[in-house]
Amino acid sequence: MSRSINLAVISGDGIGPEVVSQGLKVLRAVLPQDAKLETKEYDLGAQRWHRTGETLPDAELEALKSHDAILLGAIGDPSVPSGVLERGLLLKLRFAFDHFINLRPSRLFPNTRTPLAGNPEIDFVVVREGTEGPYTGNGGSLRTGTPAEVATEVSVNTAYGVERVVRDAFARAQARPRKKLTLVHKNNVLVYAGHLWKNTFDKVAAEYPEVSTDYLHVDAATIFLVTQPERFDVIVTDNLFGDILTDLAAAVTGGIGLAASGNINPSGAFPSMFEPVHGSAPDIAGQGKADPTATILSVALLLRHLGYETEAARVEEAVTTDLTARDGSPRTTEEIGDALAARVAG
Ligand code: NAI
Ligand code: MG
Repeated sequence: MSRSINLAVISGDGIGPEVVSQGLKVLRAVLPQDAKLETKEYDLGAQRWHRTGETLPDAELEALKSHDAILLGAIGDPSVPSGVLERGLLLKLRFAFDHFINLRPSRLFPNTRTPLAGNPEIDFVVVREGTEGPYTGNGGSLRTGTPAEVATEVSVNTAYGVERVVRDAFARAQARPRKKLTLVHKNNVLVYAGHLWKNTFDKVAAEYPEVSTDYLHVDAATIFLVTQPERFDVIVTDNLFGDILTDLAAAVTGGIGLAASGNINPSGAFPSMFEPVHGSAPDIAGQGKADPTATILSVALLLRHLGYETEAARVEEAVTTDLTARDGSPRTTEEIGDALAARVAG
């Protein structure tokens, strides 16, 4: 295992820099003495776009390739037209670095309020495909702006792309105690893509006899996420369904301040990128109100990805202990970061 981490940091906009600085604080505190951490900040996001009109210039895309991983805060501001930074920066990075695994764990932590009745056990992870589906930009519009406008947004599903994400999900399910994998799609209506997913899933399942499998249509999955969240262990699904399901998953597990994610290239050919699920929260930016926990849990995913399993577990334990100890009185972004840094160091 490499004893040094060469980390690219994209703090971004709004609360991004506030939560990222706490994430880095915890990362520094948890790393062993002999592990060297180098960080390089990339000035990307809304401010850069306003200043120069650039989203992600080729030179910076090239420079980012040399890092072991990327930590991202959040990108976006109401002053930038919708889609400019999403397509020009976030999606461009995911596609260029072939982040085909979008990993989003969902756990109901102790002392955390869920809108669900009772106190359900929630501990599942969504493995969302990250490079295909309707997000590839394979579409267009004709007769734009006229009453006869035609718009297409084609969902791209390749045997190669589906198989690699399904294989990754089976391996993750195999490594978890419950060893259960649920495929979510809509193969009763989206028959071409749906059958490719289902056939691939069934084929790979034969290689994992210990993993129990399930299939749900996406609409039914939204019901069960609310009524029976404990039935899920690992979920594998396409890019669009995964985007929607993981917001619902964040909502039922205590909210956006705790939801972490990784955009992963498992082969290591390109750096993987770790980020909180939330955005730049312009409504609370600059006030010290943002919860940095989602970023700190993303740092745990980053550590695990780079082979620092003990340190990753320490960060997750610190979050669990800290949430248990929270008495509901408000703490600033920095106070939460300091508390977690102290816990992982001690
Ligand atoms: P948002 O996630 O920024 O905010 C939604 C609500 O959650 C707000 O009320 C906000 O105050 C609250 N919130 C978010 N993070 C929080 C935290 N850490 N602690 C406490 N409260 C938190 O989503 P919204 O408002 O839809 O988007 C704002 C901007 O962020 C937009 O420009 C959007 O495009 C961008 N965005 C960027 C993402 C990214 O960088 N990956 C992801 C989602 C949105
Ligand atoms: Mg989303």
